[in-house]
Amino acid sequence: MPHRLIIIGAGGFGREVHDWASDAAAVGADWTVAGFLDDNPAALDGFGMPVGILGSPRTFEPTGDDRFVCAIGEPQDKLRIARDLRSRGARFTNVIHPTAHVGRRNRLGTGLILCPYSVITTNVTVGDFVSLNLHGTIGHDATVGDGCTLNNHTDVTGWVRMGEGVFLGSHASVLPHAKVGDYARIGAGTTVLRSAKPHTTIVGVPGKRLRMFESPPRRAG
Ligand SMILES: CC(C)(COP(=O)(O)OP(=O)(O)OC[C@H]1O[C@@H](n2cnc3c(N)ncnc32)[C@H](O)[C@@H]1OP(=O)(O)O)[C@@H](O)C(=O)NCCC(=O)NCCS
Repeated sequence: MPHRLIIIGAGGFGREVHDWASDAAAVGADWTVAGFLDDNPAALDGFGMPVGILGSPRTFEPTGDDRFVCAIGEPQDKLRIARDLRSRGARFTNVIHPTAHVGRRNRLGTGLILCPYSVITTNVTVGDFVSLNLHGTIGHDATVGDGCTLNNHTDVTGWVRMGEGVFLGSHASVLPHAKVGDYARIGAGTTVLRSAKPHTTIVGVPGKRLRMFESPPRRAG
């Protein structure tokens, strides 16, 4: 019996993840997509999805057959909700699109989302609940902490050290050996040359600090 895959978050990224997971199931992944968890019961209205909202992530009770993946872009929200569900017995799985390429000698966590044409090369360490969006790459010997959201066309190069909950905007690059602190937000198109301090927003080429924050704004995209 295949597992029931439940996607947390029924926004635009959640709908994309539904399709990537369905593509993976078509070539052998052991789940069928059962539906979404979202606080907004109307989140899918008008989008023509074949499955619906099963409940709220705050109250849903996982069963042994359920497998979960968290399709929330904002890293703090993602980590809070995924860790809470895990503490209540939810078992997470990795959604890896058939066109994603995962090389050898990598250490990968659980709850990962690897979107079409994303690449993880070799000797990479990736924590739990990390998403790597379309055409994103993580190069050799890099480390990416729990809950990072790496958006389309991001480039994490060799030996990069990335903490927990980092947000990389579309087309952001992190150059070899650079360090990116916990919950840093790297703007779209930004290049991190050497480092980004924790809890800072960095923009531009080369990346400069825009601001420091205690708690990030609600929306990054
Ligand atoms: C970096 C980011 C998070 C900052 O958002 P913010 O805190 O709301 O910042 P603001 O929009 O108020 O911009 C503040 C300043 O930074 C500049 N700025 C913002 N983002 C920038 C970027 N990516 N590159 C260069 N400059 C940028 C703005 O022009 C503005 O400059 P000004 O003060 O001289 O006018 C956001 O702009 C960004 O790049 N998000 C990534 C979005 C993305 O890729 N999403 C993918 C999923 S859909």
